[in-house]
Amino acid sequence: MTPETGGQTPPPVAKTARRTPRFVEAGWHEPPRLQYVRFSRLNRVLHVVMIVSFLSLALTGMSLKFSYTQWAVVLSHMFGGFESAGYVHRFAATVMIIMFIIHIVDLFRRKNREFGTWKAMLTGPHSMVFNAKDLADFIGNMKWFVGKGPRPQYGRWTYWEKFDYIAVFWGMTVIGSTGLMLWFPEIFTLVLPGWLINVATIIHSDEALLATGFIFTVHFFNTHLRPEKFPMDTVVFTGRMDVEELMDDKPAEYNELVRNGTLQENLAPAYPPIVERVIRAFGWTAVTIGICVVVMIIYAMVFAYR
Ligand code: HEM
Repeated sequence: MTPETGGQTPPPVAKTARRTPRFVEAGWHEPPRLQYVRFSRLNRVLHVVMIVSFLSLALTGMSLKFSYTQWAVVLSHMFGGFESAGYVHRFAATVMIIMFIIHIVDLFRRKNREFGTWKAMLTGPHSMVFNAKDLADFIGNMKWFVGKGPRPQYGRWTYWEKFDYIAVFWGMTVIGSTGLMLWFPEIFTLVLPGWLINVATIIHSDEALLATGFIFTVHFFNTHLRPEKFPMDTVVFTGRMDVEELMDDKPAEYNELVRNGTLQENLAPAYPPIVERVIRAFGWTAVTIGICVVVMIIYAMVFAYR
């Protein structure tokens, strides 16, 4: 009770001033839409780690390989000189190897938890291993390119996504093993002839060139630059994509989710615009660095070759 009310209890005040909705505070104009969750948190984190470590390996490695060019001198200075570029290379290699081991452990865990046997995992509809549908999709896609048929009904993984994934296993085996030989030649030459270190240098260097050229052109084109995704596909960072996009891009996967009744349980609210913006800035930085590396390699090989 207050003196102004003359000792009487004041009538309840109507609650007209409403709190700003949370989605407005988060930068949305309307409530966030639900999106399909395509990638787990672990896979998203591992992909970011892979991007950062691969870019570091490519920049430091190429500055060693093309050390006779002006850009390599500038680049290696940015890493503190050629010697410390070598240390950065070794550090990034360690990060990449750890990332790879975590992925393998996760594969074992998923096999035990979701599939029971390797056979079930590798031959199932979500397997990363090529199957007959991939061949049919490849042929269908070639026909679609020249206007002779419809776009294939892609499922969870397209044949080019499987190729990119398997290429990492090949790359890690070849580049990783030869890299370790260059790093620890004394240990390897306890059992191997010394000349193999020279061979390892050539294999490491040329396979690295191939991997860099492939990832920064073909992989970039397939993921970001093809018309359906241009200018950037953020799904591997957010883990989410619009359901309409899923219907258009991976119709067989969408149909399977609807058939199983599992689409709903795989939906989650989209991230706020600020998160999207940060992700896009990171993605653009990575793509720009990658394209610059390709341009620098072409320049070195065409105009500055020694
Ligand atoms: C992941 C495991 C890897 C390990 C253990 C490794 C290790 C090494 C080592 C020890 C060297 C010699 C560096 C020096 O002389 O200071 C080297 C050179 C090099 N690395 Fe790697 N590396 C790895 C991955 C990569 C990747 C992914 C790339 C490219 C994307 C790459 C590109 C290169 C290049 C171009 C050279 C210079 C070779 C030359 O002199 O012609 N490496 N690496």
